[in-house]
Amino acid sequence: MLEVDAVQTYYGESHILHGVSLRVGAGEAVAILGRNGVGKTTLIRSIVGFTPPREGRIRLDGQPIERLPPYEIARRGIGLVPQGRRIFAPLSVVENLLLAARSGTDGERGWTLERVYAVFPRLRERAPQGGGTLSGGEQQMLAIARALMTNARLLLLDEPSEGLAPLIVRDIGRVVVRLKDEGLAILLVEQNVPLALRVADRVYVMSKGQIVYHGSPAELDGNEEVKRRYLGVA
Ligand SMILES: Nc1ncnc2c1ncn2[C@@H]1O[C@H](COP(=O)(O)OP(=O)(O)OP(=O)(O)O)[C@@H](O)[C@H]1O
Ligand SMILES: [Mg+2]
Repeated sequence: MLEVDAVQTYYGESHILHGVSLRVGAGEAVAILGRNGVGKTTLIRSIVGFTPPREGRIRLDGQPIERLPPYEIARRGIGLVPQGRRIFAPLSVVENLLLAARSGTDGERGWTLERVYAVFPRLRERAPQGGGTLSGGEQQMLAIARALMTNARLLLLDEPSEGLAPLIVRDIGRVVVRLKDEGLAILLVEQNVPLALRVADRVYVMSKGQIVYHGSPAELDGNEEVKRRYLGVA
């Protein structure tokens, strides 16, 4: 579904991504692991068109998207759950959801307010409240729910567990698995290794703007060298 091929991305003269290639199949959950500053968010920004790659190709369903503006990439079915959640704090929960609402690429409104509330009952309770008054975990759920309202087919989640307590991280893992079971393709960027290993079908590891490892969660879990060297796991 998504093919990233030899992507090179820069901020001005700073060369950040040095030939990144990866694949996400339809309905597949893929994780990207890596320490601070290795280029995970830059990869996400390259895919969604915020920082287009200077070289390389990105294809969605075989169509090149690397030269398209962000709104067009979103319209084709890629939904972003940004790092730091980026909730519209002055708007209510329901306003945050409704302003993202649109039909999917097939014209269907698969994800309605009702269906999103069924996955996140807490958001229904909090619907009239200001987005900024929610707890960190609730804001993360709202950020995921907001992306669902776009009826994307591929969700990009950038460190959804960041700054959240272990119990909340577990809830997020459950939600990601549920969305995958509903047929969504998932690209999950994480530093939380157990979370990524729990939800992903395949895992890539990044270091210094490159993919340095690719395997199944079980293979990565058994590779002490990669875990120690690139993920800081003792
Ligand atoms: N807007 C920018 N302008 C210039 N350099 C940037 C910009 N954003 C990020 N960088 C640099 O690019 C490199 C990769 O950053 P990036 O945010 O992609 O890393 P990351 O893997 O997402 O890290 P983290 O886990 O901390 O979110 C870092 O050296 C960072 O300082
Ligand atoms: Mg980041």
